[in-house]
Amino acid sequence: MTVPALCALALLVVASDLASAQAKQPTLSSDGTFKGRKVADVMSFRGAPWLERATRPDEENPRLMLDQLPIKEGDTVVDMGCGSGYYARLLSLRVGPTGKVLCVDIQPEMIALAKQTAKDAGLKNIEFVLSTPDDPKLQPGSIDLILLVDVYHEFADPQPMLDAMLESLSPEGVAALAEYRLEGETAAWIKIDHRMSIDQVEMEWLPAGFELIRRFDGLPTQHLFLFGRAKPTNPQ
Ligand SMILES: C[S@@+](CC[C@H](N)C(=O)[O-])C[C@H]1O[C@@H](n2cnc3c(N)ncnc32)[C@H](O)[C@@H]1O
Repeated sequence: MTVPALCALALLVVASDLASAQAKQPTLSSDGTFKGRKVADVMSFRGAPWLERATRPDEENPRLMLDQLPIKEGDTVVDMGCGSGYYARLLSLRVGPTGKVLCVDIQPEMIALAKQTAKDAGLKNIEFVLSTPDDPKLQPGSIDLILLVDVYHEFADPQPMLDAMLESLSPEGVAALAEYRLEGETAAWIKIDHRMSIDQVEMEWLPAGFELIRRFDGLPTQHLFLFGRAKPTNPQ
């Protein structure tokens, strides 16, 4: 190989190494913030009993929450960061035997718990996905609904997660985000890092290619946002 050709090859290798190193850069700042928000620590599987607490229906009104979502029998839906599977089990009943729930979490212990609780409840339409902090392992264009309850604020690498979730939605797919309110007193008993404001959610989700379909303000303690893919703007 000639010297110029060798130089060109070396440049290519360096450039591709740089590109993959950049692609792998976490999206958080060095102080652990994303767009000014301090990202919360991931809730350990040791705290899973809290997810199944008896007071949860009063605190979150899950039935009212799910009534706001466009779920049909036969749909493929995701419980993102499913923990012990509390919402996956409720979604399972809504999509019925012809539908499917993907229960996605980064902790194998949470996945094991969710499997057990689904089995105990006799639910057969839930599949389990062990994901990574920057990759939910979903097929592009395949998902009718992604539900994220009390999880997005602890994503350690939010940008690739937002990108992958957007890509995974079917053309009319919806991502529904429920986060304890930062504003006011309705969720004052939840740690600050584990709550989000309307402004912060919109600051993170809208530039990622989502558009707000609707916000529902009728839940006891949580904001609920329904996002779809932003429509391309008409070039004039
Ligand atoms: C507070 S728990 C909520 C669990 C469940 N959504 C619920 O409301 O019952 C948060 C869960 O999100 C999971 N999690 C954190 N980061 C994640 C990520 N990047 N992708 C998927 N799951 C994640 C954690 O492992 C944990 O099980």
